[in-house]
Amino acid sequence: MTVTDHETLANLLQEDRRFEPPAELAANANVTADAYEHAAKDRQAFWAEQAERLTWAERWNTVLDDSNPPFFKWFTGGKLNAAYNCVDRHVEAGRGDKVAIHWVGEPVDDTRDITYAQLKDEVSQAANALTSLGVATGDRVAIYMPMIPEAIVAMLACARIGAPHTVVFGGFSADALASRLDDCQAKVVITSDGGYRRGAPSALKPAVDEARTKTDVVEKVLVVRRTGQDLGPDGWDDDVDVWWDDVVANASTEHTPEAFDAEHPLYVMYTSGTTGKPKGILHTTGGYLVGTSYTHHAVFDLKPDEDVYWCTADIGWVTGHSYIVYGPLANGVTQVLYEGTPDSPERGRWWQIIEQYGVTVFYTAPTAIRSFMKQGREIPDQRDMSSVRILGSVGEPINPEAYIWYRNVIGGDRTPVVDTWWQTETGMIMISPLPGVTHGKPGSAMTPIPGVAADVVDDDGNPVPNGSGGYLVVTAPWPSMLRTLWGDDDRYVDTYWSRFKKQGYYFAGDGAKKDTDGDIWVLGRVDDVMNVSGHRLSTTEIESALVSHPKVAEAAVVGAKDEDTGQAVCAFVILRENAGDGGADIVQELRGHVRKEIGPIATPRQIMIVPELPKTRSGKIMRRLLRDVAEHREVGDVTTLADSSVMDLISQGMSSSS
Ligand code: WT7
Repeated sequence: MTVTDHETLANLLQEDRRFEPPAELAANANVTADAYEHAAKDRQAFWAEQAERLTWAERWNTVLDDSNPPFFKWFTGGKLNAAYNCVDRHVEAGRGDKVAIHWVGEPVDDTRDITYAQLKDEVSQAANALTSLGVATGDRVAIYMPMIPEAIVAMLACARIGAPHTVVFGGFSADALASRLDDCQAKVVITSDGGYRRGAPSALKPAVDEARTKTDVVEKVLVVRRTGQDLGPDGWDDDVDVWWDDVVANASTEHTPEAFDAEHPLYVMYTSGTTGKPKGILHTTGGYLVGTSYTHHAVFDLKPDEDVYWCTADIGWVTGHSYIVYGPLANGVTQVLYEGTPDSPERGRWWQIIEQYGVTVFYTAPTAIRSFMKQGREIPDQRDMSSVRILGSVGEPINPEAYIWYRNVIGGDRTPVVDTWWQTETGMIMISPLPGVTHGKPGSAMTPIPGVAADVVDDDGNPVPNGSGGYLVVTAPWPSMLRTLWGDDDRYVDTYWSRFKKQGYYFAGDGAKKDTDGDIWVLGRVDDVMNVSGHRLSTTEIESALVSHPKVAEAAVVGAKDEDTGQAVCAFVILRENAGDGGADIVQELRGHVRKEIGPIATPRQIMIVPELPKTRSGKIMRRLLRDVAEHREVGDVTTLADSSVMDLISQGMSSSS
C-alpha cells in the first residue's frame, strides 16, 4: 500500500460527525486540556512528573539520556521493581482486599476473584519457584499460556526476579515457539496442559514438547494444570517437566523484591517485520512502567476506586502486556480477565460479562466490533450495559460505521470512543483522544497524547500540510519506547531510525493523513506488513513458510482488504515442476502447512496457483498488482514488469478457477 492510493483517503474529509465529551466526565477528568501545553513546554519535566506515579527504590538522576541516539535511556540511575509497583505497594497501602482480577474462565461459572493480597502471595511463590528452578536475574523465561490468572502471575514473577519474559501467543505453532525460544535463549518455559477454546479443551503442552525437539535451550518446563487433559504416554519428561502445583503452590509466600536499574530488561515481545525473521522488541523497566501507567490513567480516565476495567486482548500480544498487566496493575485497578472466545457458549457472552461485573471501561479491537455488528444489535441489546462509560479501540483503523455502532450499541450513545494508535514498539498509546477533553471524530485517532510528539511527514521528512497524507513519525523519544531489537542493534537502527535519519525521527511504518483540522487518520502499513484482525503478519514470513513446502517453487503474499478481518492473507504460488498440478487438495495442503509453520492466524484466506509472478526487471515482485487481483480490481500499471503478459496469465487463471 502506498500512502496516496488508499481509497479511504478521499472520504476522510467528508466526516463531519463530532461527539463532545460528556459534561460530567469532562468536569471530573483525570487529565484536562492544559496538559498538552504543559507537557509540550518541557517534555522531560512532564515525564518526570508522571514518574512520581511509581514507587522508586532509588530516584533517577537523569530523565532522558540522549547521548547515544537512537539508543535512548530513561530515568537513568533510578531503581525499582515492576512487580512491587504492580502488586505489593497496593497491599502496603491497605488495599490488599481489593479485587485485582475478576477471572472468568470459558466454561460458564468457572470464575475466580483474586485480591491484591492474594496476587502478592502467588507472585511471591512463583518467584521463589522460578529461583529454585535455577532462573537468575537476566535469564529469559518464555510464557506460552492461555488466559488464566497464572499467566499474569508468571509474568509478574519474572519481573520480580529480573528475568525478562517473552510471552508467545498460545495460538502460535510449535515452530514459531521454537524459533522464539531459540532467538532469546529461554531457559525455562511456563505453559499449561491446555486451555478452553469454544467449549473444548485445547492442548498447549504438546507444542512445547515439539518445540523442544527443534531447540535445546530449554532446561525446565513449568506446567500449570488447567484442563486436566491427558498428556499422552510421551507427554512428560521427568528431567525437564515440573507441575506448577508441585513447585509453586508449595513455595513460600515470602519474597523480597530486589530493585533493578530503570533500564533493566523487562521483556521481549516478538513481532513481525518486513523480513521472515520476527523482531524481538525489547522493553525495559522504568520508562515502560511510567508510560503505560500514565497513558492508562489519561486515555481511559481510570479511577481505581470506581472503575471496573476490561481489555479483551490476549496477554500474548503487547496490548495484553501494557493494558492488562503493567499499566492497569501499576494503577491498582479492578479488572476482568476472560479466558475464552467472545461467542462461547453463546454469542452474547461478552455483553453478559459486562453486565455481570458492571464493567465501566472497555477496550477491544475493530475486528471484534465488526463481527458483532454483523450478528445484529439484538444480541447486545439483551444486556444492561449502562455501567459502561468509556470505550477504547486498538489494533487497526476503526472504520466510521464500526465506530458509530460501538458508540451507539455498546456505549448507549453516551460514551466517548477512544481510538488508540500505538505499536508493540511504542509500548504505550501514542495518538488518541482524551475522553474528557477531545471531541470524538469517527475514524480518527486525533492527536498525540500529552508528552508525545508525532507528525505526518513527506518523503523528505517535512511535515505535510493539513489535508495531506504522508508517513507517521514520532519526533521525540518517549519513555516506553523500545530500546533495541533483541540481539540485533543494527536492525533496530535500520528499521526505525534510518528512513528519517537526518531529522532523527522514529519511522513507524504506517501511512497517515492530517485532515483539515490537523487531526490524524492512520491509514495502514506502508511496508510489507499486513494487519489481520489487528495482528501483525509479515508477507515475507508467510512466503517463507510456503516455499518451505516441497511442492512449492515460489510464493508471493499480499494483504487484501477483508470486511471482517481488515486485511486477509492472499497467496500466489508457483508449484515445482515435479509437483505436477499439486493434486486436488493442494490448496488445503498448503493452508495446513502455513498453519503448522506459523499458526492459525496466518492461514491464507485464498491461495492461487499461478504459472508466473509479476516481477520488475530487477526481479522484485510487484505486490501492488497482485493486490489488485486479490481485491478484484482492474490491474494497474504494468509497464515496469519484465514481462507484461504475466498479469494476463494470472488473471486468466483466476477467472477459470473461481
Ligand atoms: C500496528 C501495530 C498496538 C497494539 C496492537 C497492535 C496498526 C494499531 C491502530 C489504530 C490504525 C492501528 C498500525 C500499527 N494499528 N492501532 N488505532 N488505528 N492502525 O500492535 O501488532 O505492534 O501493530 O497496528 O498499523 O503500526 P502491533
